[in-house]
Formats: sequence, C-alpha cells, structure tokens
Amino acid sequence: SKTILTDDFGRKHNYLRISLLEKCNLRCTYCMPADGIALSPKASLMTAEEIFSLAQIFVENGVDKIRLTGGEPLLRKDFPEIISKLATLKTSLSITTNGILIDRHIQALKEANIKKINLSLDTLVSSKFHTITLRNQFEKVIDNLHLLLNNDFHVKVNVVLMKGFNENEITDFVQLTQFLPISVRFIEFMPFAGNEWDRSKMVSQNEILSEVNNVFSSEEIQKLEDEKNFTARTYKIKDFQGDFGIISSITNPFCDGCNRIRLTANGKIKNCLFSNSETDLLTAYRSGESITNLISESIKNKKKVRAGMVTVSEMDDPALHFDNRSMIAIGG
Ligand code: GTP
Ligand code: 5AD
Ligand code: SF4
Repeated sequence: SKTILTDDFGRKHNYLRISLLEKCNLRCTYCMPADGIALSPKASLMTAEEIFSLAQIFVENGVDKIRLTGGEPLLRKDFPEIISKLATLKTSLSITTNGILIDRHIQALKEANIKKINLSLDTLVSSKFHTITLRNQFEKVIDNLHLLLNNDFHVKVNVVLMKGFNENEITDFVQLTQFLPISVRFIEFMPFAGNEWDRSKMVSQNEILSEVNNVFSSEEIQKLEDEKNFTARTYKIKDFQGDFGIISSITNPFCDGCNRIRLTANGKIKNCLFSNSETDLLTAYRSGESITNLISESIKNKKKVRAGMVTVSEMDDPALHFDNRSMIAIGG
C-alpha cells in the first residue's frame, strides 16, 4: 500500500538511519576531514526524547528497520536510554559502530534486543589501523569483534577499500570468513566533503572480484541471492563459515531498490546519501507543526539515482560533493 514513505518510483522507505551525533573517537581520513567539521550547536541536536518521538512517527508510517549511526553512536552519553526507548517500537534495531566501546555497552545492546552489529574495520594490520584512523585501537576492536561473536551477535565487517592502502588485504579479509561466521563487505570509496576522494583512489567492484578470482576457483566462489533492498551483492567461499559482499555505490549503484531515508543528528531528513537538499524536521517538530507533510515532500523530491548523479563521470565532479556534508555528519 502507498504511504507518505513511497516515492514517485514506487520505492517504499521502510529503513530509517538515524545519526546520533557528529563526533567520533577515531579520525578515519575517508570520513572526517583533517581540520574536523563545524559541529552543530548542542541545542540543535535531537534529544533522546526527540529521537524517540520522531522515530515513532516514521514507524507509524511504515518504517520497520532502524539503524543508529554517527559519528560513533556509542559515544552518546545517553545511548543506553536511546536504545531502551527505541526497543519499545515495532521495528528492528541495529547499529553501525567502530567497535571501540562495544564492551562497555554489550549488556544494554542485549537488553534492547539488538542482534546485528555492523563493525567498521578497514585493515587486519595494527600499524595500518593507526594510519587510517590516527588512533591505536586495533586490538580493542578485534577483542570486541570476538566479544560480539561469543555473545551470538551477527556481525558484518565494513571494509572501505583504498588503492595503495588496503587493496592487498582483500584475500586476508575473505580468508577471515573461513572460521568466523561474519559477513565482510568491501566498500567502494565514496566522495564526501573534505575526504579528498579521487576516482583513482577507489578500488572498484570489478577489481575486487578479479582479485578474489585470482585466489579462489570458480567452483569455490558461490554467488548468493541478492537480498531485497540490498546494499551489498554477496558471495561465499564454499565451506567457509562466513560470506563476503561488495558495496559498489560508484561503479554499480543499487538505487532501484533503495528503501533508505536518513535523519541527521540535528534532525534533518536526507532523502539520499548524496543529496544536500535537506528537510528540517526537528525545528518543525519543536514548534508543534505536523511533520508528516515534510516527510512526504522530501520523499517526493528523491531522485531515481544518487541524487541525480547518474553516471560515474557525474560522480567525479568534486563541486557536486563539496556542498554535501562530510561523512562523519551523515553516518553512512
Ligand atoms: P545492512 O542493513 O546490514 O545491510 O547494512 P547497510 O549496508 O544498510 O549499512 P551500513 O551502515 O553497514 O553501511 C555500509 C556501507 O554502505 C557504508 O559505506 C554506507 O555508506 C553504504 N550505504 C548504506 N546505505 C547506503 C545507501 O543508501 N546508498 C549508498 N550509496 N550507500 C549506502
Ligand atoms: N566511502 C565509503 N564508505 C564510507 N564509510 C565512511 N566513509 C566512507 C566513504 N567515504 C563507511 C564506514 C562505515 C559506514 C557507516 O560508512 O566505513 O562502516
Ligand atoms: Fe538510495 Fe541515494 Fe544510496 Fe542510491 S545513492 S541507494 S538513492 S541513498
């Protein structure tokens, strides 16, 4: 049935990604500009109550999957309160995290019935972890990955691939799925304000697949069925416990099945990861206005593909990305 969350192309937006804050305890160069970003004033960030109330309105209108992002979502002091409130809504709840604070919050995650965690980890080499994140937290993240698995969470490991940095670790990450029941997702590096994206730094879907094909035989590599509304096209090595996938936002976009809508930490809707025309829900909500019209208008304005950037060469134009937020303030 058609709701305010159905766009002009018939896509139903049942997946809400909520960014909880704009800060992080890492400094990944592909996400956070070297000089940092201008943070939203604290008073313009959604409170725990506002996050709940806005999420509730989305759930009433058809959202049944909520993902919390950041910055780093576990850095919110009121994170346990936020998830315990959201756990009362009729929706699945998950988070995307860098993993550093997982041990501190594992009990709260269980109590909120969170079963799936997406963990960002771009290298299996401790010194390279520092190169990309500018922090020495590799061992902590690995310990917390195992803590999650020992507590029966399903973990997806997000790996942003960059030329000359970690493209030589593709095989090691696939090998990791032999004995760990994880889903590794290789992600094409994407352009955002201040991350010095250049197409030549990106490792493409084709390059990833040819690397895997060099190491494993075609009989061993099994293509898995695409999930509904997928971001990753997925594969498995025969008899391995886990699987792996490729998120090819640049060379092979998956916008036809897009079901995602985003709420930034300062309460603005983004109808696409690459769209910089935002709709201020929080201000309207605070002044007591109805926000359902604003939601439906934002959905109606959504473009078919990547905020209107249909070809790879359109993605190449830096001018089209400077106006967008930095990734740290979008949350993926
Ligand atoms: P699942 O719900 O477990 O499938 O996770 P997800 O892929 O929706 O979310 P996650 O936060 O783990 O994001 C993984 C990568 O996919 C990140 O690089 C995101 O930026 C990217 N991603 C997530 N949603 C979208 C989207 O709507 N469009 C594009 N182009 N990329 C996305
Ligand atoms: N390109 C692709 N993926 C990115 N992420 C952050 N910045 C980028 C980028 N420029 C990923 C993180 C995290 C997810 C939310 O988004 O690795 O796992
Ligand atoms: Fe959806 Fe935009 Fe991502 Fe395409 S680029 S899948 S339209 S959010």
